Amino acid sequence: MTTAIGQPLDRVDGRPKVTGAARYSAEIPVPDMAYAYLVGSRIAAGRITAIDASAARAEEGVLAVLTHENLPKIASQPPLIPSLAGTAAPGQTFFPMQDEAVHYAGQHVAIVVADTYERAQHAASLLRISYEETPPVTTIEQGRDQAYEPEAIFGGFLPARMERGDVEAGLAQAEIRLDAAFTCAANHHNPIEPCATTAQWDGDELVLHDTTQGVNATQITVARLLGIPLSKIRVIGHYVGGSFGSKAMIHNHPALAAMAAREVGRPVKLVLTREQMFTSAGHREEQEQHITLGATRDGRLTALRHHKLSPTSHFDHWAEPSLGGASQLYACPNYEGVYRLIRANTMTPTFMRAPGEATGVFALECAMDELAERLGLDPLELRLRNHTDVDPMTGHPWSSSGLKECYERGAARFGWQDRDPHIGSRRDGNWLLGTGMATAAYPVHPPSNPQRARARIYADGTAVVQAATPEFGTGVATVMTQVAAEALGLPADRCRFENGDTDLPNIAAAVGSAGSGMISAAVHTAATALRDQLIAQAVADTGSPLHGADPSDVVVRDGVMTAGTASESYAGLLQRNFQPDAEAYGSWSPPGQDVPYGMMTFGAQFAEVAVDPELGLVRVRRMTGAFAPGRVLNPRTARSQLMGGMLWGLGQALLEANSMQPRTGRWASSSLGEYLVAVNADAPDVDVELVEVEDTVVNPLGVKGVGEVGQVGAAAAIANAVHHATGRRFRKLPITVEDLLL
Ligand code: MOS
Repeated sequence: MTTAIGQPLDRVDGRPKVTGAARYSAEIPVPDMAYAYLVGSRIAAGRITAIDASAARAEEGVLAVLTHENLPKIASQPPLIPSLAGTAAPGQTFFPMQDEAVHYAGQHVAIVVADTYERAQHAASLLRISYEETPPVTTIEQGRDQAYEPEAIFGGFLPARMERGDVEAGLAQAEIRLDAAFTCAANHHNPIEPCATTAQWDGDELVLHDTTQGVNATQITVARLLGIPLSKIRVIGHYVGGSFGSKAMIHNHPALAAMAAREVGRPVKLVLTREQMFTSAGHREEQEQHITLGATRDGRLTALRHHKLSPTSHFDHWAEPSLGGASQLYACPNYEGVYRLIRANTMTPTFMRAPGEATGVFALECAMDELAERLGLDPLELRLRNHTDVDPMTGHPWSSSGLKECYERGAARFGWQDRDPHIGSRRDGNWLLGTGMATAAYPVHPPSNPQRARARIYADGTAVVQAATPEFGTGVATVMTQVAAEALGLPADRCRFENGDTDLPNIAAAVGSAGSGMISAAVHTAATALRDQLIAQAVADTGSPLHGADPSDVVVRDGVMTAGTASESYAGLLQRNFQPDAEAYGSWSPPGQDVPYGMMTFGAQFAEVAVDPELGLVRVRRMTGAFAPGRVLNPRTARSQLMGGMLWGLGQALLEANSMQPRTGRWASSSLGEYLVAVNADAPDVDVELVEVEDTVVNPLGVKGVGEVGQVGAAAAIANAVHHATGRRFRKLPITVEDLLL
């Protein structure tokens, strides 16, 4: 048997990436290229009263200046639907430069196209744009009075109110009650590679090189906005330099690049600046959460109320789904979750790593820590007393769980058992030491539509497996090579995964940790179909040594089909029959909404911090995370994903923050110099434990995904550890030097 799945195969894209051979979207050479530079509004609310573009247009090399006065109107505005659905997925239902209204600072108000990037940028600085300004609303504080409860959030996908049981009755039964309010700062993704699109027209056919989590999502969205047939638009995106949700939805720039290219009659490259990434690709919204817990003296939850308030744009009722995972973690019979929104002068927020759970589970797991303290219970014991083997929202069993094993193995590796619950019980010189834990959970999101792949084997015995998905750093190209090798019975070095092109079989945008599960399902289905097809051909072929064998007796190893003592290689069969290759399609239909299972990836997080209360410093000394992501396709890439998530949680806990300046409505930070992310110097020893669990519901290989669950609960474990060290509760993210010094 080949055992490609589960091996720590090196990244197949490792060499091209470290040698610089990997080409990212903005690096694809296209002859006769022109360069576009976007101009953002300097005001956050109001309207444009005049644009004087004469100086810009007069500059040498300038090919076009497009504004609301001359940019073509969009053909239609698709609704905001998460890109995992496999349909058009604009980042917001507002397209710029259609009229003179300004809804947020940085809103695209002009595109300048020139024969060099520098000329475009310089000409952009010569535009004279006059505005009539009205006072913006950008923060929760400014909009609190206007908060409203929408019917649905998340692009209409989730109800804004979720209930089970009777939360008032549950609170009345409670022997102990805890109320806590939490705030989380707005966050920005900051992938190393900014968003970029190169648009090239050939007659009425459009090719886009786009940096995206889903080439099909870009294709469908741009086709709708421009009103062109899907068959006339091809989107290519092989390598993506990080995304974390900033390229999960299709923001305005790919369609703008296409419009600009049509206007100037040349290919156009549009790359967002680092600063523009703060206003053009969405963000995680600022938010307040209020949690009320009711419990019995022995620590059983009787009620859980979880309310969230956050700003959204003027166009969309968007809130990241912070109440989802948190509503499913514990066996509490009475639950109420409500989203409330504020219309603000911002672009529509978007998905950002562990969208929803990163913040919602933070609040819940800090509240659970407070409850444990009030009850005099070990925080882990409180979780176990409220453990649930069914999805409490539906009563359906989990398709697989592994949560108890994650608690056990994580606690053992971390040394949780030796913990002295007393505050400040451990010191190291000036440093107060503390430990904290939290539950991690992230839902399994099956896509809405069938996922497809194609497998081809050549007469030389090598194979190519194709699917449209880009590789955005997750390791997908590596693990799909392994999945194909396993199913075909070939060594991994004779399989190649080809991806990142809408000319290849359709794959939905890889978001919501769904990538490995859905793409492996398609690849496995295609490769298995090809293997079965070749076996069927061999046993029916009078010239084959396998002729007459029972297909179910045939095993394939190293590309050789064997039944008993008879054998023939794939290559031998094809060569003998003068076939240059053979290929098969695989199409996988995901489980529907009505599947009678709860589907969730669980884990447990543990952290140790050292706090210097006089200097206000928090250093995370070590983190342990144990996760049960179903089947692990590659322990090396899975571990990297989970470790990255945990370190992201560290950044969320201690560093990452942005805020709107209330008067100007502009982001206070718009560079990596001001917006702090965790770097190697912040990174402690991170211990990742993989708990494999079998899951026969989610997809053929039982893959639940590792992209986001590593982050969930990490910030709560750190905040809880800070409390254990200092006795102080910080119900906010991030926890900063100023917080500790005040
Ligand atoms: Mo992920 S933040 O759902 O692209």
